[in-house]
Amino acid sequence: MARKVAICTLIYSRDYLPGALTLAYQLQKLLKHAVVEYQITVCLLIESKLFRDEFSPQEIALIRSLFKEIIIIEPLKDQEKSVEKNKANLELLKRPELSHTLLKARLWELVQFDQVLFLDADTLPLNKEFFRILQLYPEQTRFQIAAVPDIGWPDMFNTGVLLLIPDLEMARSLQNFLVKTVSIDGADQGIFNQFFNPICNYSKEVLHNVSPLMEWIRLPFIYNVTMPNYGYQSSPAMSFFQQHIKLIHFIGAFKPWSHTTSDYNDHYYQLWRSTQCGLYGECHLSDYFTHLQLGNIETDTNFHHEPPCLKNLLKHSTKGHQKQVEFDETQVDQNASQKSAAEKHDFERPTSEPQSAFKFDWETTDYLDRVQRAFPRPDT
Ligand code: GLC
Ligand code: MN
Repeated sequence: MARKVAICTLIYSRDYLPGALTLAYQLQKLLKHAVVEYQITVCLLIESKLFRDEFSPQEIALIRSLFKEIIIIEPLKDQEKSVEKNKANLELLKRPELSHTLLKARLWELVQFDQVLFLDADTLPLNKEFFRILQLYPEQTRFQIAAVPDIGWPDMFNTGVLLLIPDLEMARSLQNFLVKTVSIDGADQGIFNQFFNPICNYSKEVLHNVSPLMEWIRLPFIYNVTMPNYGYQSSPAMSFFQQHIKLIHFIGAFKPWSHTTSDYNDHYYQLWRSTQCGLYGECHLSDYFTHLQLGNIETDTNFHHEPPCLKNLLKHSTKGHQKQVEFDETQVDQNASQKSAAEKHDFERPTSEPQSAFKFDWETTDYLDRVQRAFPRPDT
């Protein structure tokens, strides 16, 4: 029986919708060409109140067409109390909006799957080799979490990319621990490290009640390359490893879909936006674009940069529906030297991968069909 793997993201606020949609779209594209020996389900975790009250029917249709499963969750027990308790540390982090990331503790409840690969909505896998992450540590136990060191404090792991084994007992102990303990950063990353990572001195209670086997498995940085890093990253290492990078994680308050980010012209930020353009263009969503207030795209009045993709989208939105959205060449050429090294690498590699007995089932499912059913073109 093929291992059942959920690739999950979480939307805990409307602002992350552009990220989650673009991530799902990218996963579909990569999975279509990947031979993966597991049964993969691309899932969205979302709080019931948020899903019910804050999204329009079109947005819900769009979410439904891109995610194979939508898992509606309820707030954690005493969640608001935990948020309150963690307030001071979150203020230190200067990210009050992250308070509800504690919901990631629900991931351990997904026992219908053998393994969960969690990706923050602000991540972008770059190539199909990213799915090798699933082969890195096949003997993972329910007591272990696999993650990449955090660039801000490398003795801790970053919680934007997580591999875990769902288990109700672990879910219960993590959630109880979370209610009782103040998180180092006021959010999920602190508390998950306090629970799984001995360096963070987890309490005796955790050791006694669960297992001394709890452990963080350190994954290679190329599976969660965080940026921006304010020039702190080693440039020689970046150039040495660039072709091996499998996923970019846009940390910090400014996301590729925020218009105020100073990294707007960075190669990977542009790559994210061209992926988003692919989604809107390929799915003929430009006509809907103006109706769907995705993230802050329409509402951000401090918007100084002209977003290349959006400009093209709007330009084409009234024209023929078959028209492909073009990426703004003038912007891309500035970065021609580094141009999608990861993608090129992927493209040039011979396609002689071992054939697997199991194929992931989305290979036979045309997600574009579902998107187009949700958003029929006026002439069909
Ligand atoms: C970091 C992580 C993110 C997490 C947040 C709060 O920004 O990248 O995944 O939600 O910390 O702990
Ligand atoms: Mn993130």
